[in-house]
Amino acid sequence: MTTQTNDAHRRPHDRIVNPRLDELPDYPFERLRGLLDPLSAPKNLDPVALSLGEPQHPYPDFVGEILHANRHLYGKYPPVAGTPDFCRAVADWLTRRYALPQGMVEAERHVAPCAGTREALFRTAFMAVPPTKAGRQPAVLMPNPFYQCYAGAAIAAGAEPVFVSALVENGFLPDFAALDEDVLARTALVYFCTPGNPQGAVASLEYLENLVALSRQYDFTLVVDECYAEIYNGATPPAGTLQVCAQDGIMSGVLVFHSLSKRSNVAGLRSGFVAGDPDMLTLFRQLSEYGGNPSPLPVYAAAAALWRDEGHVSANRALYVEKFDLAERILSNRFGFYRPEGGFFLWLDVGDGEAATVELWRRAGLRVLPGAYLSADSGSGENPGNRYIRVAMVHDKVVMADVLGRMAETL
Ligand SMILES: Cc1ncc(COP(=O)(O)O)c(C=O)c1O
Repeated sequence: MTTQTNDAHRRPHDRIVNPRLDELPDYPFERLRGLLDPLSAPKNLDPVALSLGEPQHPYPDFVGEILHANRHLYGKYPPVAGTPDFCRAVADWLTRRYALPQGMVEAERHVAPCAGTREALFRTAFMAVPPTKAGRQPAVLMPNPFYQCYAGAAIAAGAEPVFVSALVENGFLPDFAALDEDVLARTALVYFCTPGNPQGAVASLEYLENLVALSRQYDFTLVVDECYAEIYNGATPPAGTLQVCAQDGIMSGVLVFHSLSKRSNVAGLRSGFVAGDPDMLTLFRQLSEYGGNPSPLPVYAAAAALWRDEGHVSANRALYVEKFDLAERILSNRFGFYRPEGGFFLWLDVGDGEAATVELWRRAGLRVLPGAYLSADSGSGENPGNRYIRVAMVHDKVVMADVLGRMAETL
């Protein structure tokens, strides 16, 4: 009976569809709506959404000015390879940010724009996953919990998603090298994220060196999602994977993804980039020609200016530091509170993440995300997100002070 309902839900028409897509679970926000929409929040409290990682900090005024000044270009089809100015701004930023050797990142060869990184991360699986590897179904590895796009991409590309636990015991960093030889041999692609979403763990340069070495040993594509790289706690910025490539000048098999959504608070501008292996980027651009959706020319212009400006980025980072100070004061020593090294999420151990999510909504009008919705069951049947909730610290300090107070009272 349940299966029939599911089939009816997934296949509204009696038509042939790709059966692989039946494996796609409901997206976390859809599950959250299913959990909370039937319940009411208190009438006397303003509801606050902390479930979505959509920064509410301001973005620089020059964004609007540049879009306006370039508005005559909305009539033109934009180039999928980006503008030379955009690619130059990105290559210069990467070189500065990661102290790469001058000339290592060539704007026209090693950089490709994307209209936000989500679709580009998704598309990469179609490039990186062959029909078989080592004579069997290819595997795509990812941390568990994980950004959902990775699993969807793996399934859609015909691979087996393999979830590698990122638990408090291992500093929330997955140990890919510890997997069975059998799995590593058929691994076509690894998705990794640093700083991680949701736990905010930052991989050291040594960790990234080992991961790059593993990708060369087993000949898989390594995708490192570095979209939270500019939001960190402390004085030292997170290491980047291109720093590892700089050691021998080889970028083959490595792609890094960066986005303006979190760095510059322009999630709606839809602008990011992928950098690394020049051959894969040639293919990436070719796929863009067939089915991609490049950003409009005024967006490339605004994005280039954002990559050239660091002032708004450090101001933004300082706002997060203040809010984590606040969280530390209000929540400290409770719910396994720790200060994430990077990113803007609290990952709180509340015992039962789904029950806490319901309570926070019903009693405090706060919409958080149960950790289990961001994780898959591990081999032992245990879901590493079960005990947690994810709280996006994306609102301003005044709202967050109120929210954290409500949270501490309710839980
Ligand atoms: C880990 C991670 N990667 C990538 C993205 C995609 O960001 P965008 O498509 O806005 O660049 C997100 C957005 O929430 C994310 O959390």
